[in-house]
Amino acid sequence: MDDYRSEVDCSSLLKQGAEAKIYTGVYLGKLCIIKERFPKKYRHPALELSLSQQRTKSEVRSMLRCRTQGIQTPAVFFVNTEENKIYMEYVNDSVTVRDYIIQVQSSSDDAASSLLKPLAYKIGEKLGKMHNKNIIHGDLTTSNMLLRKPVENLDIVLIDFGLSYINSTNEDKGVDLYVLERAFLSTHPNTESLFSVLLDGYQNGYRNGVGDVVRKLNEVRLRGRKRTMVG
Ligand SMILES: Nc1ncnc2c1ncn2[C@@H]1O[C@H](COP(=O)(O)OP(=O)(O)OP(=O)(O)O)[C@@H](O)[C@H]1O
Ligand SMILES: [Mg+2]
Repeated sequence: MDDYRSEVDCSSLLKQGAEAKIYTGVYLGKLCIIKERFPKKYRHPALELSLSQQRTKSEVRSMLRCRTQGIQTPAVFFVNTEENKIYMEYVNDSVTVRDYIIQVQSSSDDAASSLLKPLAYKIGEKLGKMHNKNIIHGDLTTSNMLLRKPVENLDIVLIDFGLSYINSTNEDKGVDLYVLERAFLSTHPNTESLFSVLLDGYQNGYRNGVGDVVRKLNEVRLRGRKRTMVG
């Protein structure tokens, strides 16, 4: 079990998320990201361990499934299921879609719409293809999408699949899109028209009975609004 350690050179903390630490390191001579899920203090230790293991497994499974379907995710190099660590490709010459949108929006209105519309369309197309294969991401946000440089190539890499699962229903696909819509509009205010371009891209990528998913999205939106009114 210790063998893999000799293959990992130095690691340094890059980011600390809510449930995981992200380190950079070197695996078999390649720059890599090490994503380590750590136990949360407020949950029961046994439950915590089982949740971390489940999420690590889901993340790896969906990343591999996406890659075999031509949807870009980082290459998985190695998984340590005991320590809940995933060693994956470091997409180092990239920016998160979140940071890119914020950066473009702070430049000028014209630049924003001409640069961001094709990006939104491409993201939608990617997600449509992912749903076509019945992969539900579970935590779609613009921080969980990387854009490789040069950004003009619109080369999008999806990450953070810990809450993902396989499901073919329109309901789950609609909810996946709704989670993204909520995150998108709260992170990037006044981008309703951009999100509708994303949905156009989704329709093109999904093809198979797309109307049904969009109908579900509308239902979920309505439920969300009612809940907000009651609350
Ligand atoms: N393979 C990768 N290549 C480059 N950067 C990465 C990679 N994986 C993660 N990152 C960076 O680390 C951040 C956090 O990673 P990730 O979303 O997988 O973890 P997380 O614990 O869910 O974090 P958060 O709670 O912030 O969502 C990403 O937004 C991205 O900036
Ligand atoms: Mg994340």
